[in-house]
Amino acid sequence: MLITLYSILLATWAVVSAAATTCDRTCLEGVMDTFLKALTAHNTSLLLTTSDVLYVENNQVLTLGTGEWLVASSPGKYRHVFADPQQGQVGAITTIVENGVRTIYVARLKVDADGRVSEIETQITRDPAGAALYESMTVPEAVWLQPVAPADRVPRETLIAQANRYYSGMERNDPHGDYSFFDKDCNRIEDALQTTNQKTGAAYGHSNDTVFASLGCAAQFQTGFLGFVTQIRSRRFPVVDEERQAVLAMTTLDHNGTVRFLPDPFDVNNGSAAQPIPPYFDVPRSLQAAEAFRLKGDKLFRIEMTLTEVPYRMKSPFLPVEHLRYLGSNSTNSTAASFSQPCDRASLRNVTDRVLDTLLHHKSPSSLPIADGAIYTENGQVLDWGNGLWETLQEIGADRAYFSDPDTNTAGFWGATREQTTPGVLALRIQLDSHGRIRAIDVYDVRAEVTGARGGTMTLMRPPLPVEWQGAPLGKLDSVFTADNNHTEDLPDSLVDAYFDGLQRHTSAGVPLSKNCLRRDNGQFLANSSCADQMKGLGVNPNGLYNTTSAVRDRRVLVRDHKLGVVLAVAMVDNDAVPRSALNVTSTQLPPTQRVPSTYMVPQLIKVVDGQIVRVESMIKWMPYGYWPF
Ligand SMILES: *[C@@H]1O[C@H](CO)[C@@H](O)[C@H](O)[C@H]1NC(C)=O
Ligand SMILES: *[C@@H]1O[C@H](CO)[C@@H](O)[C@H](O)[C@H]1NC(C)=O
Ligand SMILES: *[C@@H]1O[C@H](CO)[C@@H](O)[C@H](O)[C@H]1NC(C)=O
Ligand SMILES: *[C@@H]1O[C@H](CO)[C@@H](O)[C@H](O)[C@H]1NC(C)=O
Ligand SMILES: *[C@@H]1O[C@H](CO)[C@@H](O)[C@H](O)[C@H]1NC(C)=O
Ligand SMILES: *[C@@H]1O[C@H](CO)[C@@H](O)[C@H](O)[C@H]1NC(C)=O
Ligand SMILES: *[C@@H]1O[C@H](CO)[C@@H](O)[C@H](O)[C@H]1NC(C)=O
Ligand SMILES: *[C@@H]1O[C@H](CO)[C@@H](O)[C@H](O)[C@H]1NC(C)=O
Ligand SMILES: *[C@@H]1O[C@H](CO)[C@@H](O)[C@H](O)[C@H]1NC(C)=O
Ligand SMILES: *[C@@H]1O[C@H](CO)[C@@H](O)[C@H](O)[C@H]1NC(C)=O
Ligand SMILES: *[C@@H]1O[C@H](CO)[C@@H](O)[C@H](O)[C@H]1NC(C)=O
Repeated sequence: MLITLYSILLATWAVVSAAATTCDRTCLEGVMDTFLKALTAHNTSLLLTTSDVLYVENNQVLTLGTGEWLVASSPGKYRHVFADPQQGQVGAITTIVENGVRTIYVARLKVDADGRVSEIETQITRDPAGAALYESMTVPEAVWLQPVAPADRVPRETLIAQANRYYSGMERNDPHGDYSFFDKDCNRIEDALQTTNQKTGAAYGHSNDTVFASLGCAAQFQTGFLGFVTQIRSRRFPVVDEERQAVLAMTTLDHNGTVRFLPDPFDVNNGSAAQPIPPYFDVPRSLQAAEAFRLKGDKLFRIEMTLTEVPYRMKSPFLPVEHLRYLGSNSTNSTAASFSQPCDRASLRNVTDRVLDTLLHHKSPSSLPIADGAIYTENGQVLDWGNGLWETLQEIGADRAYFSDPDTNTAGFWGATREQTTPGVLALRIQLDSHGRIRAIDVYDVRAEVTGARGGTMTLMRPPLPVEWQGAPLGKLDSVFTADNNHTEDLPDSLVDAYFDGLQRHTSAGVPLSKNCLRRDNGQFLANSSCADQMKGLGVNPNGLYNTTSAVRDRRVLVRDHKLGVVLAVAMVDNDAVPRSALNVTSTQLPPTQRVPSTYMVPQLIKVVDGQIVRVESMIKWMPYGYWPF
């Protein structure tokens, strides 16, 4: 009797609770519509949100009301909406305009029981051609929107499982895998362009392969061609539209840079067994993907995909917090003998050489004395030991600059790298603990980005940089950086901060600059490249790097070398792309470098003599706006 009563109570509670949480398709579509209107009206008050709403653009957590909220306009005609009333989730693939340029835009909202939005996840794919194609389509292919009779539906779990098999099949793409989860008439579009059963003879992606896109979904997987995708992780299936038998999935595709050949089953390369991998895949890269699947029965029938590049191994802020820092092992179980202590300058230089040698020869990290729980980061992301540059580094240039701070057991390095055909500039920090074991290695590698055939090696979907580096020889690092100051140079935080404040505020007032101070960005001296000119901005500086800077944040000193008077630092430089009338630029006049919210990750060497900055050497890497390194 007691048990019966209890189950009735539970059942009643379930009914009440379900009724309270139901925002049906119409309601969810309305919330999405309101969101897009609020966004493009630049007014967050138009959207009902929870007080702790999580707002994310291209994987970066931003304050609601910043980022796209300041630049987006004109919601597109094309709007493909997915509704999941059971989970209170709604997603849309659509387009918006950023400072006059149309772009593909994916949004996902989590809607609470009381209609408040608690999560806003967006992906901006800056492909104007794809956006134009979407706008010319105006509506999704009809099959996406057709409701399926309840009796003909497969359950939610099956929808997710089949979509997941797509990713498992693509990851390291085994040509002999079981691809029976594809419908025989399956088709895929990528940025609105059909990339299956395509008879135009167009080459696929970064490759020269003109056959791949002519095949069907299953036949493509049976080529093994996609094996350069080495991992598909952080797989989420947040919006399951059961009524339309569709799933909107969010994942990250890793290319770890080790795969050197694409199979060539169609003899695209005239007799050779394999095609060389395009240079874009010389270096480790991650692509954030939003992908929709429409099933027919339990088979994948339509796929709609759009993606953008994020820093290698970037984590999703929507993963449980324990996944955020570590995706793999943070232990190497190293038993290698510790470095002798205490460390002087000469031995810190030797430590650096040991680390560089291990990276270069792809030796196991455990051959180094690495403390348990030590952290390895690359361009601001925590990686598993042995991943990233450990697998791809092939050359370190002869021109090497070593820095050290024996007081803090820290070593630093600046030098040139090569991964396959791609040159880069490496800034490195090695932190030892008091037992002579490595506690952290931080690597910043800014690779050359070359425009060229099939996309070259440019970071996907980024706008141009104010000053590009396409791999031109950088010349020898100016000897001033490795010259002894002949005294212990005080390198206080206040000095470094004054410099970054100057860049942020567009004034050299109060910044301790020597009057001959010069700055090089991505290997170039530009007109008005004196350190002071660079700070003035407002059109004075023709390179445009700092004239629209909205913040110089997340400033980190990696190494302070008091003997050489050098600070190795990294900072995130934000350009919020907000046209400011004070600058007399209207949005349509903005140069391409300034139309899109951007963050420049800038590792740099700052040389100080007698308390004055005399020289700055910097390398610039484009990052999604708001990028927060670890
Ligand atoms: C934003 O929307 C709110 C609510 O409708 C309105 O009261 C407010 O005036 C709007 N703000 C601007 C700047 O338009
Ligand atoms: C393919 O290779 C053969 C033999 O090496 C050569 O004669 C032919 O011209 C090549 N075809 C093309 C299109 O390059
Ligand atoms: C693709 O073709 C171009 C032009 O023929 C050639 O320069 C390039 O090396 C080819 N790329 C690959 C990856 O084979
Ligand atoms: C370290 O040792 C533990 C325990 O033996 C093992 O589970 C783990 O896989 C090892 N890690 C590595 C990176 O070898
Ligand atoms: C640095 O390494 C060199 C070559 O291995 C060695 O001869 C030298 O003694 C080392 N110096 C220190 C201070 O460890
Ligand atoms: C290593 O990573 C795990 C999560 O995978 C974490 O729980 C643990 O605290 C980390 N160890 C250290 C020493 O940071
Ligand atoms: C990189 O990818 C290759 C090929 O799939 C794989 O063998 C290797 O283990 C991967 N490296 C890491 C660190 O996962
Ligand atoms: C340090 O002394 C050397 C040798 O006398 C000299 O060449 C160099 O310019 C001095 N450095 C500075 C910063 O004065
Ligand atoms: C900055 O550059 C502009 C255009 O090249 C030039 O006219 C101006 O004189 C330069 N200003 C300084 C301070 O060098
Ligand atoms: C910044 O510099 C660039 C390059 O000279 C110029 O096109 C742009 O108008 C400048 N922007 C502002 C806001 O002064
Ligand atoms: C902007 O242009 C107007 C009209 O040409 C001019 O009066 C004003 O001084 C300019 N503002 C700036 C900040 O240059």
